[in-house]
Amino acid sequence: MKDTVIFCWSGTGNCLDMAKNIAKALGGADIISVRKKPEVTDVRAAKRVGFVFPCHGGGAPVDFLENVKDLQIDKGSYVFAVSQSASYPGTGLAELNKIHPLSYWKAITHQCTCIWLFPHFVQVPPIGAKAAQKRSEHLSKKIAKDVMAQKLSKKDPGAFFLNAAENKAWPTILKLKAKQFKVSDKCIGCGQCAKICPRENIEIKNGKAVIGRNCVGCLGCLQYCPTHAISLGKVTDRREHYTNPNVTVAELTSSQLHI
Ligand SMILES: Cc1cc2nc3c(=O)[nH]c(=O)nc-3n(C[C@H](O)[C@H](O)[C@H](O)COP(=O)(O)O)c2cc1C
Repeated sequence: MKDTVIFCWSGTGNCLDMAKNIAKALGGADIISVRKKPEVTDVRAAKRVGFVFPCHGGGAPVDFLENVKDLQIDKGSYVFAVSQSASYPGTGLAELNKIHPLSYWKAITHQCTCIWLFPHFVQVPPIGAKAAQKRSEHLSKKIAKDVMAQKLSKKDPGAFFLNAAENKAWPTILKLKAKQFKVSDKCIGCGQCAKICPRENIEIKNGKAVIGRNCVGCLGCLQYCPTHAISLGKVTDRREHYTNPNVTVAELTSSQLHI
């Protein structure tokens, strides 16, 4: 086990890209996926333990907190977390802090991957797509520097009550949204969406993807579809798709990466 272990949840690559960049800037780290139950749970040997995850619907993505709750982290380890969002971090950091007390945390923004809501280039601050990626890479180095220096956050991450209300309603919103998935005749039955889905909610039947209702809302299936055969509601077909340019499907679906 490397000195640094980073647990990462990523739907469309932004958080995994950041975890990889932090790992590189630290001189190496083990990155463990928590999109599903993690393969490694006992990290008491690690000096530094990190978490990188996005904000979904006002809080941590579905399954994230559940998947990290049983991790064994040494009391003396330096624990850091980064939450990414398009505009506001929501309750994720505050909820994580209750499970694994954080020495240091950062909330940063990147492009919006929720393209049924906004075009992907929308983010706060409003900067272009290329600039957003550059900013993310710059911030990764800055965060790694802080982690190496064992910088401590002065206060606990807070949780705005409206985000908490939004996040409480999120599972219901996801269930309603899941009914709107459509797979068009452009589907070639390649199975990439089924491979990407963290909940195994997609099957290939008679050469075509069939999407169930057990959806976490990451949009990986829709965004990574090579023929853009998957839509969600009326708007996603008209919007440019987005996945982080530096993360491959193989990396996203790997249970562990060693940098
Ligand atoms: C379904 C969904 C819900 C999201 N909800 C929020 C939100 O409530 N607030 C926000 O600021 N960003 C929200 N985002 C934007 C993501 O947090 C942001 O794009 C992040 O960089 C995505 O990381 P990933 O590519 O690693 O999945 C949402 C994205 C998705 C796909």
